[in-house]
Amino acid sequence: MNMKILVVGGAGYIGSHMVKHLVLAGHEVVVLDDLSTGLASQVKWGRLVVGSTADAELLASLFKEHRFDGVMHFAGSSLVGESVAEPARYYRNNVANTLNLLDVMTVHGVRHFVFSSTAAVYGEPVTTPIGETHPCAPINPYGASKWMVERMLQDHAAAYGLNSVSLRYFNASGADPEGELGECHDPETHLIPLILRSASSRSGPVTVFGRDYPTSDGTCIRDYVHVTDLCEAHALALEAMFAGRLEGATAFNLGSEQGASVNAVIEVAQALVREDGYEVAVLEGTRRRGDPAVLVADSSLARQTLGWKPRFGQLREIIAHAWQWEKRLAGLGKNNRK
Ligand code: UFG
Repeated sequence: MNMKILVVGGAGYIGSHMVKHLVLAGHEVVVLDDLSTGLASQVKWGRLVVGSTADAELLASLFKEHRFDGVMHFAGSSLVGESVAEPARYYRNNVANTLNLLDVMTVHGVRHFVFSSTAAVYGEPVTTPIGETHPCAPINPYGASKWMVERMLQDHAAAYGLNSVSLRYFNASGADPEGELGECHDPETHLIPLILRSASSRSGPVTVFGRDYPTSDGTCIRDYVHVTDLCEAHALALEAMFAGRLEGATAFNLGSEQGASVNAVIEVAQALVREDGYEVAVLEGTRRRGDPAVLVADSSLARQTLGWKPRFGQLREIIAHAWQWEKRLAGLGKNNRK
């Protein structure tokens, strides 16, 4: 069944992949994005409305103009370190602005909402892998702001009958397998794009943030999950709500359930870029504040309830797609000089 979906933050990394996914599945998409971190050039499908969820008048006119069947909300500030330095910005953008969106949805009777949440809602893990029943005890304003929205969604379900699915991403990574979209953060802080930028010479060496963690090789272990698989989970969540199979406020972890150390990620990337004649440069650094040693998802609930079957479980595929995108951004082909 074809739906009309509002994708808030559809010009960003994950949102732009979602728009492609929805449009190719036959849905009609309107993107709302203030372009504060997203890029208009990444909205290659659907109609882009430039504006912010802070603008209640704009939201009112958008919902008056369109009869949306559901809303997917990707627009949020998402840098842990920045959230510690500027918490007010995080609570305003991630919490208060999301409330504006929920308000207009309530007024117009739009009852299906998919929300970008994060593994950061769990805080320091007390068990691993992390399931949805793990306590939510965020240790930074970013994680706290996402958890506050999840709490609001529970209350909106009880009071207004809003159906919502919060998807707690682990390490979103990779790029569109067809090479049309990818990660474009500025500044870039994530491990995989930084490794690949080092190979393409768009930035300097990548620094390993500590080798003294209690893991097999001393570097942090994370759960890298392909952006296309994340999009598939969003689509399944919306379909499940629409079909009446999911009601109220639910939350699911989205991860590959496989841990990879920083060292392992660098080794896989190094092998891949060498096939094209490039080299990753690596520096040794100290721990980054607030990094837990191990973060790995238990995603069995999403698999069972949503029927989610990630297609790109291999780290090599994730990095290969990200490398394809990085070469495009850097204007590279094979390097015969090295
Ligand atoms: N790392 C480095 N060097 C770098 C960048 C990262 O060694 O230059 C390491 C980090 O210490 C970490 C791993 O690589 O161990 C992954 O780091 P990222 O910054 O790519 O991702 P995070 O695991 O810190 O963050 C991700 C999401 C956040 C979310 C968090 C959940 O990007 O939005 O998972 O804990 F909050």
